Amino acid sequence: MPAICHIAFETSCQFCYSSRFSHYRYHIVNITILGPGAVGTLYAYKLHQAGHNVSVWGRTATDTVTISIDQSPEVALANRSRCALKQCDLLIVTLKAWQVEQALTPLLSELDSDTILLFLHNGLGTVDRLARLLEAHPVLLGTTTHGALKQSAINVKHTGLGQTLIGGWNDKGRQCKFVAEVMNHAFAPVKWHPEVEVALWTKLVINCAINPLTAIHQCQNGQLAASQFSQTIYSVIDEAVDCANVVGISLNREALHTTVYDVITATAQNYSSMHQDIYNKRQSEIDFISGYLVSIAEHHGIAIPTNLALYNQIKQIESSWSSHD
Ligand code: NAP
Ligand code: PAF
Repeated sequence: MPAICHIAFETSCQFCYSSRFSHYRYHIVNITILGPGAVGTLYAYKLHQAGHNVSVWGRTATDTVTISIDQSPEVALANRSRCALKQCDLLIVTLKAWQVEQALTPLLSELDSDTILLFLHNGLGTVDRLARLLEAHPVLLGTTTHGALKQSAINVKHTGLGQTLIGGWNDKGRQCKFVAEVMNHAFAPVKWHPEVEVALWTKLVINCAINPLTAIHQCQNGQLAASQFSQTIYSVIDEAVDCANVVGISLNREALHTTVYDVITATAQNYSSMHQDIYNKRQSEIDFISGYLVSIAEHHGIAIPTNLALYNQIKQIESSWSSHD
């Protein structure tokens, strides 16, 4: 039975963004995952298991892609199907932030304007860059604390059970609360956040504090609890709160200090995503993490020396690869 069926419908539905969704009562929702890597494969698998018609849009030129999670049986999903893209009700973007603009732009003209777009990646700023092209669509932003690791071309290890928060980026998106119910049915917990920007900014501040430092010092998250890092971490947070305030996002400085240190403790054994990217000489998401703050600070004439220094150090490491390798 399709996930949406648990919602009571009459002729139209209070959860529906448009009349298109009133047809879902007896239909499986068509979902495409753009960027079926670690996170994308996890969602693709869970949504497929819940009865949705799931396809992926990956980089390989094959018509199907086989996926599995942990020890679960493999499933084959359509890959790069233009037909599936045309019929897709929900497109979930699980690319790395720096991949979004290039991968999504050529696909937008293929989508129906009713197609809901959900961006599920670390960092901020991707949607701003595409704002004009996205305005016809209901757009959702999300953040997840699940852990996922690609172990082979087809298998993903679900390394940590987390939760997903989603919410609307534009007016049409804010009418799509039912997407949280659909996703929650497939992969709980997924919660609707009426002010998702606050959740995304909170995650951004956590990433600004933890990711560059662990990448520069090549250490696990837990090592940032040492006193030598506290002044830097506090400055990163304070500067980030100044940037948030200037764009109208109200964050609590003291609460964030506690949150960042809670995450450092809770993920003490983890290597952050930026640590892993830098260690493996892969492009990091720095432009959409510290770099997002840098662009806001430049635009509004705010000084954020600590975040700027961390941003420059990561950019310098990245640029050193091309000159030495
Ligand atoms: P990932 O494994 O690298 O997934 C990205 C996928 O997108 C890869 O399969 C990549 O293919 C594909 N891709 C790149 N360019 C593409 C294009 N032009 N067209 C189609 N597909 C393309 O990354 P991830 O770990 O899933 O992370 C995704 C986002 O979630 C990131 O922002 C990350 O910070 C965030 N996140 C991750 C976790 C986690 O535990 N992994 C947890 C929370 C949040 P190739 O491999 O061929 O490049
Ligand atoms: O990017 C990451 O690695 C994670 O978002 C976090 C929370 C910093 C934990 O490692």
